[in-house]
Amino acid sequence: MAMQGLLTISVFLLLVSSCSCSRLQPWTKDYFDALDFRSFGDEEAAGTTDGLDFGSFGDEEAAGTTLINVMHYGAIGNGQTDDSQAFINAWRDLCTVDRGVPALYIPAGKTFLLGQVQFQGPCKASSVHVKFEGSLTAPLGTGWGGKAGLDKWIQFEYISNLIIEGGGKIDGQGSAWWTTCAKGRQYGQGKFQCQRPTALHFHSCNGLQLSGLTHLNSAQNHISLSGSNGVTISNLYIIAPEDSPNTDGIDISTSTNVNIKNTFIGTGDDCIAINGGSSGINITGVSCGPGHGISIGSLGQNGAYETVEEVYVENCSFKGTENGARIKTWKGGRGYARKILFQHINFINVKNPIIINQFYFDKNSLPQLADNNYYQEIKVSDVTYSDLHGTSANDIAINLNCNKDGGGCSNILMDDVRITPAVPGMKLNVICNNAYGNVTYAIPNVPCLSH
Ligand SMILES: *[C@@H]1O[C@H](CO)[C@@H](O)[C@H](O)[C@H]1NC(C)=O
Ligand SMILES: *[C@@H]1O[C@H](CO)[C@@H](O)[C@H](O)[C@H]1NC(C)=O
Ligand SMILES: *[C@@H]1O[C@H](CO)[C@@H](O)[C@H](O)[C@H]1NC(C)=O
Repeated sequence: MAMQGLLTISVFLLLVSSCSCSRLQPWTKDYFDALDFRSFGDEEAAGTTDGLDFGSFGDEEAAGTTLINVMHYGAIGNGQTDDSQAFINAWRDLCTVDRGVPALYIPAGKTFLLGQVQFQGPCKASSVHVKFEGSLTAPLGTGWGGKAGLDKWIQFEYISNLIIEGGGKIDGQGSAWWTTCAKGRQYGQGKFQCQRPTALHFHSCNGLQLSGLTHLNSAQNHISLSGSNGVTISNLYIIAPEDSPNTDGIDISTSTNVNIKNTFIGTGDDCIAINGGSSGINITGVSCGPGHGISIGSLGQNGAYETVEEVYVENCSFKGTENGARIKTWKGGRGYARKILFQHINFINVKNPIIINQFYFDKNSLPQLADNNYYQEIKVSDVTYSDLHGTSANDIAINLNCNKDGGGCSNILMDDVRITPAVPGMKLNVICNNAYGNVTYAIPNVPCLSH
């Protein structure tokens, strides 16, 4: 069932408090039970700061913050009038402030309709803030984009130490796109190749911090990150219907030293995907479901050279997802995925709790190479599964499907893995093809994982 409507801020506060105050850890079953999805509604929470005026451009606060309120740039915030130009003008001023910390202020209690906007740096200040309390909404329907190169809605680029925080909301209005612009379909009068837009994209934003926001119903992935170092993403709430296409929560590529913490992601596709050129990625306290789980890759499509290393996924949980801990590579790619740790993970009714697939194939993409040309391989090695437990919805609890052409997957360690069937009485099986490593303790046992 599609979860329609807006999330009340009170639910969001419940979520935040349940991970920090009431000691319900996101990798426990109780955590999910504590989330009250029935309170989805249209009202804003009490205590919004509507009407609060932080002063006009140039006002200095004690801490040296210059607040730049979009309302003073002509934004209307009625959800109907296009406020893009007001935001762009406010950003231009923000980016030229050269003293203290300039902060773009998006006030609570208002909904700002934005078309495709790019917020670009570099800015003069060494750090810029966005105090994000209101809501942003995309135009309804698909008429505003879909052309090649117009595949992103809101973009931040080339900005150092960008800090976006607040209880605001970003609504991608994706439902029209999901049907009109289904994958592979031509779209519009000129028959553009249909491309659904990413809701929020960051490129080359070193030192980025993003926290507190609710992200709803993107047409495509909700957040994507590329070319950035030293990023912290925390306390987000990302939600789209289970059957919405390609609505990944967070996609990371060509980025280093990224922390994703204490975040809830329930969408139609990957919870988090870690793509090529990424290393030093820590994911902690993330709850996923529904969706396709946390995935390394896919890597190596069309023979590409791609690498991912040092990924630590800890204290996370998966509820009702297609996959849990997943690594997927295409045949014929080059590079590696290595030094990967999945630790303290809880699975609740997950179809493929532990899966490595070196034969990844997207049924919507045409294969680019004849099958007998696939001799090279993305090497998968040094993967540890430690303290993973919970229930499997399918009878294959552990599936390590590696390709012998590249030497298989090596140094795989199963250290305290306990998976039981979600359906009582179902017998759980394990598959290993060309997977090498060790087992300290695993239920079901993994005798096929040989040294
Ligand atoms: C990720 O966790 C590892 C192991 O705890 C730590 O060494 C590393 O510094 C962390 N990386 C980031 C980006 O926080
Ligand atoms: C995971 O949770 C355990 C137990 O609460 C805690 O000791 C550990 O520091 C957590 N790991 C991370 C990376 O936060
Ligand atoms: C697996 O066992 C082999 C043989 O005992 C050992 O050489 C290797 O270091 C072990 N690997 C891991 C990841 O424990």
